Amino acid sequence: MKIKKYVLPVAGLGTRFLPATKAIPKEMLPVVDKPLIQYAVEEAAEAGAEQIILVTHPSKLALEDHFAVNSELESALIEKGKDELLQKVRSILPEGVTVTTVYQYEPLGLGHAVLCAKEIVGDEPFGVILPDVLVYNPEKGCMRQLADSYEQKGASIIGVETVPLDEVHKYGIVSLTERGEEKLQRMSGVVEKPPVEDAPSQLSVVGRYILTARVMELLESTERGAGGEIQLTDAIAALIAEEPVFAYAFDGTSYDCGYKYGYVRANIEYALRDGEIGDEVGQLIQKHAGGQHG
Ligand code: UTP
Repeated sequence: MKIKKYVLPVAGLGTRFLPATKAIPKEMLPVVDKPLIQYAVEEAAEAGAEQIILVTHPSKLALEDHFAVNSELESALIEKGKDELLQKVRSILPEGVTVTTVYQYEPLGLGHAVLCAKEIVGDEPFGVILPDVLVYNPEKGCMRQLADSYEQKGASIIGVETVPLDEVHKYGIVSLTERGEEKLQRMSGVVEKPPVEDAPSQLSVVGRYILTARVMELLESTERGAGGEIQLTDAIAALIAEEPVFAYAFDGTSYDCGYKYGYVRANIEYALRDGEIGDEVGQLIQKHAGGQHG
């Protein structure tokens, strides 16, 4: 079965990025010249998405505006003959993809945000992308890889990567039924932000999921967990007790843009890959590596 619906939760407060995120949604921060949310929509479209479900907050209007038609801007670009820019603006929403908005009025946690999309998702399996995590893979996007694994297994698939031991307390950490070398392995559990001594592995959940609709029912009875939030991780742990769930060690480089260093690193590395400014940025970095500043 093809995964057609992708939930993008964007209703959080983005407190780690204040003051930037006071009036601008974190998911609208650009990496080079494109906002994070647009990378997420493009990744979903590449995986075959037909409907994007933005779980947002009424105060974060810029996110909805980004995907709405701006006739005044388009007319101005037409008048000035700026065809290339016009094309850029018109292709923000990939062809064949629609955006539906649903509000999470209070940021009660990621699990609660996903639950807000229950009615729209219905009884189909669906994807979830956290837009503040970028995954770079120009050959095959992370979500496409997960969608392929779903085709293979017909079960929930969680994107994972290995993190250093001293960082396990920051992420959802999975345990596997058997320790093996395969990229796709059955999970036996998942725990949110465990202390290092309790971490079952170094495999962390990165913000890419394909989930069966059963998780929505489980979320309805999920109580507040780590950080006082309704955690998606806890509902996935409950799902594992009922049906097979797989971890997929995707190919690609992830960037956690939810905090300063991850965001700056993404900007530097995406800028280095950029056809227009890549060389210049490379020279700048070399200059600084040589100890010259200014
Ligand atoms: P984060 O925990 O990274 O985002 O959630 P945050 O809560 O906005 O950031 P900090 O911790 O305060 O700095 C990952 C994604 O889930 C969304 C966020 O908007 C982000 O895209 N989210 C989080 C919600 O939609 N609702 C929530 O209640 C929590």
